[in-house]
Amino acid sequence: MKLPVSGRATATAVVAAATLLATGSIAGAAPAPEAGAIAAAPDLPVANVKAHLTQLQSIATANGGNRAHGRTGYKASLDYVKAKLDAAGYTTTIQQFTSSGRTGYNLVADWPGGDTGQVLMAGSHLDSVTAGAGINDNGSGSAAVLETALAVSRAGFHPTKHLRFAWWGAEELGMVGSRYYVNSLSAANRARISGYLNFDMIGSPNPGYFVYDDDPAIEKTFKDYFTGLGVPTEIETEGDGRSDHAPFKNAGVPVGGLFSGADYLKTAAQAAKWGGTAGRAFDRCYHSSCDTTANINDTALDRNADALAYAVWTLSS
Ligand code: TRP
Ligand code: ZN
Repeated sequence: MKLPVSGRATATAVVAAATLLATGSIAGAAPAPEAGAIAAAPDLPVANVKAHLTQLQSIATANGGNRAHGRTGYKASLDYVKAKLDAAGYTTTIQQFTSSGRTGYNLVADWPGGDTGQVLMAGSHLDSVTAGAGINDNGSGSAAVLETALAVSRAGFHPTKHLRFAWWGAEELGMVGSRYYVNSLSAANRARISGYLNFDMIGSPNPGYFVYDDDPAIEKTFKDYFTGLGVPTEIETEGDGRSDHAPFKNAGVPVGGLFSGADYLKTAAQAAKWGGTAGRAFDRCYHSSCDTTANINDTALDRNADALAYAVWTLSS
């Protein structure tokens, strides 16, 4: 939707204008941004994010109704995301592991360039439970991280830091894929990760707006974005051990992320500030067969996807 922090874009426009004046030239291509100029984060088209969800739903439907670890629907989901990233110029890596006697996969996508001594990561789990298609949990995060990565490519974004996006396998079995990834990093490569941003359930049908309160700088970045939208947030307090940021946090990596709620009930106070239905779960279809494309709040998906892109742009510059 709309750009929230207009000061950021204005400052960039001023820098570009100043560059133009300094060079005294308006001929040829637009001048490269001056060092230190921060390119404005894009408004991610929510229709694109939803198109990825439609594809993930079709994949589940064609594969016994789910995209769970060790099932054909998981690998088909991974192949869909990987093909988009490869076509956009990413360097993709599939990391294979075994859990509960079945083969699992993480997908890691590196955007060429940036300081590989400072890596900013954003990730989401791509597996569903066996009960259903897992469109809010966690097609929503997977689609938004994918669309952010594609927006990086479309913008020809050249951040100071190196960008790495990840889609984790077997989160639903206890964060197996993300833990495998963190454990397989050398100490040196682990130390190069300046931050990990996690997106697990960001389109809940009766949404809340929760920001992880782990690293203060990451938390502030997300909160600034929602302040610009005029949307109040709450701190996410129950999730420390419940999603893929946990292995990173345990390894000493600064983490943050967004969450729109799972099986907990929305309180009257929360419904008063966010709308929706008090006394009802944020996601009544959590881990159920009804977690389909119908189980998404478009406004929450749109806001959280835009916040994701804003954080990636801001924290990598
Ligand atoms: N990780 C959980 C799942 O995939 C969802 C979840 C529940 C969650 N509570 C959370 C995610 C808090 C992040 C934060 O089923
Ligand atoms: Zn889940």
